[in-house]
Amino acid sequence: NKRKIVVTRKIPEQALERLKAHGEIYMWDYEELPMPYEILSEEIKDAAGLYTNVGDRIDKALLDQAPNLKAISTMAVGFDNINVKEAVRRGIAVGHTPGILTETTADLTFALLMAAARRVVEGSDYVRQGRWKSWGPMLLTGQDIYGATIGIIGMGRIGEGVARRAAGFNMNILYHNRNRRPEMEENLNASYCSLDELLTRSDFVVLLAPGSAETGYIMGEKQFKRMKRSAVFINSSRGTNVDETALFEALKSKEIWAAGLDVFEEEPVSTSHPLLTLPNVTVLPHIGSASVATRTKMALIAAENLIAGIENKELPFEVKIT
Ligand code: GLV
Ligand code: GLV
Repeated sequence: NKRKIVVTRKIPEQALERLKAHGEIYMWDYEELPMPYEILSEEIKDAAGLYTNVGDRIDKALLDQAPNLKAISTMAVGFDNINVKEAVRRGIAVGHTPGILTETTADLTFALLMAAARRVVEGSDYVRQGRWKSWGPMLLTGQDIYGATIGIIGMGRIGEGVARRAAGFNMNILYHNRNRRPEMEENLNASYCSLDELLTRSDFVVLLAPGSAETGYIMGEKQFKRMKRSAVFINSSRGTNVDETALFEALKSKEIWAAGLDVFEEEPVSTSHPLLTLPNVTVLPHIGSASVATRTKMALIAAENLIAGIENKELPFEVKIT
């Protein structure tokens, strides 16, 4: 009578092996397809553990179906897709993978910044489509990164990683955060400022705040209007932090210069989404933490969180809500 563990995606073999030693596994193993909510609702009924990811919605209705659930473990740092309050109220431990993916996600964020500023993807398409006829004095000209001003909204671990990279590019660093970070000010010469001031002064606005139903849009019409016409907006946090209609309008009317997006309000984003019709938008499919090494580590840590949770032990990385 082994405990049942539901795994909503095909996960790396090593992680799966760890889980198998501790329970009976139901794994949804279609590589490209998320586990349908209806099937998850059914499978969760007799489960002790749920191994999940950012693509699943773990809401109250689902938890209502799961009287035996002891642990939810997400292979992510963000947990905005999980109703943590309801889980905790029911005595279900929730685990995530902070810290491990910080540098990998900061790398991708900087890659997106550079790609958007220097029109890297647009330029690549230009060559492949046979449109390259000659060298042109102003052909595919972008924005300078070296020495520019970067404004980071949300100075957590990933924000700090981006700031360290920015320092290497001799950028002037501004940040906005719930708390001031004196060590960042000292070590990287970062300046704390209000959101409005950050938006007005930055050449690059990088959004790294966690997603949350309560805070709603951090970036909307008013915020985009404050940005420079030459400014580039980057989001590798959560799509729900941004009013996409306002972003589309700002980009279309050239109120801002370009955007680089790894996340969307609805994922996967539809190819008919208005933002995808704009040449000054660089898009990626939520791959911030997607390096082989980091995703492997995340999978293993998520397994350890889950195992600890179903065995009533302390989780290596537990989500604590205040
Ligand atoms: C991915 O977005 C994560 O939260 O890890
Ligand atoms: C996530 O790890 C963050 O704190 O930015």
